[in-house]
Amino acid sequence: MVDDDAAVRRAMARVIEGHGLATIEAASGAEALAILQREGEIPLCISDVHMAEMDGVTFLREALGLYPDMAIIMLTGVADVTTAVECLKLGALDYISKPVVMEEVRARVDKALEKRQLVLQNRFYQKNLETRVRELDRRNKESLINGVQTLVHALEAKDAYTSGHSSRVSRYAVKTAVQLGYVGELLNHIRLGAELHDIGKIGTREAILNKPGPLSPEEFEHIKEHTLLGEKILAPFLSESAMALRIVRSHHERIDGAGFPDALQGDGIPREARIISVVDAFDAMTTNRAYRPSRSPAEALDELRRCAGTHFDTEVVDAFAGAFRDLTALPLGR
Ligand SMILES: [Fe+2]
Repeated sequence: MVDDDAAVRRAMARVIEGHGLATIEAASGAEALAILQREGEIPLCISDVHMAEMDGVTFLREALGLYPDMAIIMLTGVADVTTAVECLKLGALDYISKPVVMEEVRARVDKALEKRQLVLQNRFYQKNLETRVRELDRRNKESLINGVQTLVHALEAKDAYTSGHSSRVSRYAVKTAVQLGYVGELLNHIRLGAELHDIGKIGTREAILNKPGPLSPEEFEHIKEHTLLGEKILAPFLSESAMALRIVRSHHERIDGAGFPDALQGDGIPREARIISVVDAFDAMTTNRAYRPSRSPAEALDELRRCAGTHFDTEVVDAFAGAFRDLTALPLGR
């Protein structure tokens, strides 16, 4: 209860105490502010507007700055509607005109406390809701990642070569993408797409996956299917990552249009798929395959450069070389 008139202050305090509430009295805005700073938030505050040391309007502003949820009722002169309106604009919950009628004070105090309760409840529900939504989102992402890992493990169990390949391709791809200027969430989509780019090989016959030596045309057609099958398998999981799906579908396209499954050309190939194409080839060349031994990182990079502009995107090859300047650190481990 803030008023420089001790008689009014006392009378008002008694009304409030009659409501079963404890009161603290202050003779000025400055004193009231000091009390707030010492005691913390007080649910309801009634303050006179005209006081010598820090007037009520200044106090209102400062108090709400400290505790935005405080219910503050202002006491104004009967003729002082402008000030009353100003106080409401500043966030006062209500105002009472002097001279005060105690019945009115009781009613206003009840109303103010009710309002404050509503505001606090609302805030509580809102905060709770936000926390729950965040929690659900987190769990969704977690189960997505678990699902992804299960798929990758299933493929690795079937195809010895893939073991470690997905993870390396993913790391090569992300660093290359950073070099190309990708940031933030986009890198997560690239990581995901790279990790899963060959997942369609789950449907490829094992004899073909592990065949030493060249493939027959029929076998090659069969292996090509892993791009479309991968996209089909993942589409229900990755509805929010169109980029990852594009990577899975288009990582075997070639700049000159001789790739598969859509024979896209140049810029018609999604850029992220062009990245995976380069790093996928690099990893394939620098790892032992069923049908041939590995090449050195320098030889592999030469090969990428030689095929830049026909098979691979030149800009991506340059970015890859820029991202991994120290060839002695390559190939990356598992
Ligand atoms: Fe592939």
